Amino acid sequence: MLDYDAEAARYDATRGGRERAAAAAAAVHGLLPERLTRVLDIAGGTGSVASELAALGREVAVGDLSLGMLRVAQRRLPGSQVRLDAKRLPVADSSLDAVTSVWLLHLLPARVVEGVLDEAARVLRPGGRYVTTVDKAAGDARDSRDGLVNDRRADVTAGLEARGLTEVGSAEFVGGITREGRPAPRYTLVAFEKPATR
Ligand SMILES: C[S@@+](CC[C@H](N)C(=O)[O-])C[C@H]1O[C@@H](n2cnc3c(N)ncnc32)[C@H](O)[C@@H]1O
Repeated sequence: MLDYDAEAARYDATRGGRERAAAAAAAVHGLLPERLTRVLDIAGGTGSVASELAALGREVAVGDLSLGMLRVAQRRLPGSQVRLDAKRLPVADSSLDAVTSVWLLHLLPARVVEGVLDEAARVLRPGGRYVTTVDKAAGDARDSRDGLVNDRRADVTAGLEARGLTEVGSAEFVGGITREGRPAPRYTLVAFEKPATR
């Protein structure tokens, strides 16, 4: 995986900047009913997507493994950062309205993806939603240079359904790393809901 501490200073400018972040946030927002106010973005990086989501009225905390990325996020959403590993969230069971991961799963080995799915299912409250990008390489192959493709939509859906969540919707956003002569890349987000208890 890329060294995101080293990448932090140039990350936003090289990943589509505010335009991409706003498009991603709008797509996430559309997949979250209004009742789900508290969101943890578990690989929130520089907080660019999270701050756009906050501007749409959500209460967003940015989690990330990289302190360098979180330092940039701190300038955007002061006091809303937490260093964490997405496969071991420092959060109580059934406590969050929503968890998001934009451009995370494609970076991870299969066993780590399994851990992330376990954690998303564990920390969501009944009726809560996990929204994640899938099939990143279909949008832009740049970040799949590690050769990992553990974010296939069918696999993520099967993994979350095995943990009791149900796929409830999907959306696309455009933006990010564009290449000359190629259309702007398009990425898929899928939403999964934890069943409400009766
Ligand atoms: C491609 S960036 C995406 C950042 C942000 N979601 C965005 O869309 O701009 C991937 C991020 O995942 C973080 N990351 C990688 N592995 C992680 C893990 N196990 N737990 C939490 N964050 C992780 C990296 O530090 C990096 O900030």
